[in-house]
Amino acid sequence: MEIIKVKDYQEMSERACEFIVEQLAATDQPVFGLATGSTPEGLYECLINKYKTKEVSFADVKTFNLDEYVGISQDDPNSYYYYMNKKLFDHIDIPTANAHLPNGNAADLESECKEYENRIKQVGNVDLQVLGLGLNGHIGFNEPGTPFSSRTHVVELDESTRKANARFFPSLDDVPTKAITMGIDSIMESKAIILLVSGKKKADALAKLMNGAITEEFPASILQKHENVTIIADEEAMSSL
Ligand code: F6R
Repeated sequence: MEIIKVKDYQEMSERACEFIVEQLAATDQPVFGLATGSTPEGLYECLINKYKTKEVSFADVKTFNLDEYVGISQDDPNSYYYYMNKKLFDHIDIPTANAHLPNGNAADLESECKEYENRIKQVGNVDLQVLGLGLNGHIGFNEPGTPFSSRTHVVELDESTRKANARFFPSLDDVPTKAITMGIDSIMESKAIILLVSGKKKADALAKLMNGAITEEFPASILQKHENVTIIADEEAMSSL
């Protein structure tokens, strides 16, 4: 694992943005794995700016998001579908058909998971996966205890994750209890990964990820085994190392 230490959230976002721009230049039809949440918002703003100033185009890009809630509609502002459109896709030239998210409203969620895996396989896997880090070590919505061998699947969300995400919902009761997420093994198949970590509240999780045991009780610890992971972390996030 390589670690890039940056000053703050802004610098983390700009550094991550450079990774995407480099991948765009290096690959004809790049496939990006994307995350939602607070962490990548600055990265997406930076990418939009690069598109507006004509430094990059996303016309040949394909994206696959890590996860989506089950049972909320796509126009619900809390759906990851809505988030991705508002925070990125609506502002760049990616063809709609190239931007993939799991469908949390599929009639058959199990086949949706399989179908999602197939779509990723068909494009030859993710070239560069963007990850955020959950306080309990989750990546995607793979909560502690998820087998490292897991593929895209339906999960019951941890109470702690629902509480952490409740800030986006009217109340905790409105936070969905289930989601579809790419599995840990699916994430590990990405050719390269950048993990973005910002803020003091993530410091203990980052220390555990980097120095702790590789255990299913702390899903992100598996990243120690990936051959091409770059962690971009700010000073506060690195304060427990
Ligand atoms: C979101 C995702 C999650 C988040 C994590 C951190 O698609 O996969 O694993 O990356 O919960 O969330 P934030 O960035 O809001 O702290």
